[in-house]
Amino acid sequence: MSSTKIQQNTNTLFPEMFVEKTISLESRRYIGNKTKLTNWIFSTILNETQNCKTFFDVFAGTATVTKTAFNYYTKIITNDLLYSNNLIYKAFFEQKEWNKYKIEKIIGYYNGINPNVLKDNYFSEHFGNKFFDYQNSKLIGFIREDIEKQKNDLTEKEYAILLATLIYNIDKIANTVGHFDAYIKKAINYKPLELKLIETTEFENIEIYREDANKLARKISADIAYIDPPYNSRQYNRFYHIYENLVTWEKPELFGVALKPKPENNSLYCTVKAKETFKDLIENLNVSYLAVSYNNTYNSKSHSSENKIKLEEIEEILNRKGETKVFENSHKFFNTGKTEFDNHKEILFITKTKK
Ligand SMILES: C[S@@+](CC[C@H](N)C(=O)[O-])C[C@H]1O[C@@H](n2cnc3c(N)ncnc32)[C@H](O)[C@@H]1O
Repeated sequence: MSSTKIQQNTNTLFPEMFVEKTISLESRRYIGNKTKLTNWIFSTILNETQNCKTFFDVFAGTATVTKTAFNYYTKIITNDLLYSNNLIYKAFFEQKEWNKYKIEKIIGYYNGINPNVLKDNYFSEHFGNKFFDYQNSKLIGFIREDIEKQKNDLTEKEYAILLATLIYNIDKIANTVGHFDAYIKKAINYKPLELKLIETTEFENIEIYREDANKLARKISADIAYIDPPYNSRQYNRFYHIYENLVTWEKPELFGVALKPKPENNSLYCTVKAKETFKDLIENLNVSYLAVSYNNTYNSKSHSSENKIKLEEIEEILNRKGETKVFENSHKFFNTGKTEFDNHKEILFITKTKK
């Protein structure tokens, strides 16, 4: 890569004119995200709870719930098993040193590159004309490598912002239905990749973790925990393997049609152990309230989309921990497009834990 000559757009001389728009946390495509439900979730939680200052988002995903929680709590703890999600939280939320002008200049430079002059690289060799068109794949691989090369000259926050910016923008041009379990097998229309800077929302009192929820539960205490685990056998690290690959950047060997690495960092919530794992989590959370999200995908025709824990089992486990109320909201369900749920309901359990 080192010797690649790059054609620069003259706009890079005025990068602040080049990076005109930003891209929001909420714009990301993510299976099972609660972005459209945050108002309902928080109005229910706020009605049902008292004296809560610390909010723990145990399975944060897109972290749109975490971001909404900034409005109501003085301390936030947020967690997810994925490397890419962890980096995204650091980029959007952490109050750490970064220079916006410097980042805009780098983004302006990336936006001025003509991908035609770039050489093939790890990213284009594997994903070109599959998950992304070939030219954009070369550019994505080049940018990723360049961010790594610049690491010593970037603060931790700047590094995270650049990578999160890359992820958020390539989500818009990915040749997928919203995840990387498969790509669409049709010719890809070329749309030039133009990076927009992520819209950060820094929060002073946030702790960010990338830990298994059950292990972390044993170390954390909070007033309220919001729990939204995966409920079927589809592993999130497999859905978003390209982002995990881009963030860890170990360039692993890839397998199968979807070009995934060897399984690593799998979740027990997607296995036959889901129920006992959930029970263990609830028993070990040291909080005054639990808010647990669930949806009725159990009747799904597709086996891999079947819920691993039944509604009644969740209710039974929560009832043991304290008085539990159940709230319902109908919500248009997004999945891979194979299954339609006319009757989809989103459920929120609120438990006041026994002292
Ligand atoms: C249903 S999604 C959460 C969606 C999130 N509430 C949102 O609005 O985007 C479940 C999340 O749990 C994470 N996860 C799965 N197993 C986990 C574990 N054992 N510990 C921590 N996070 C886990 C997945 O990576 C995924 O992001």
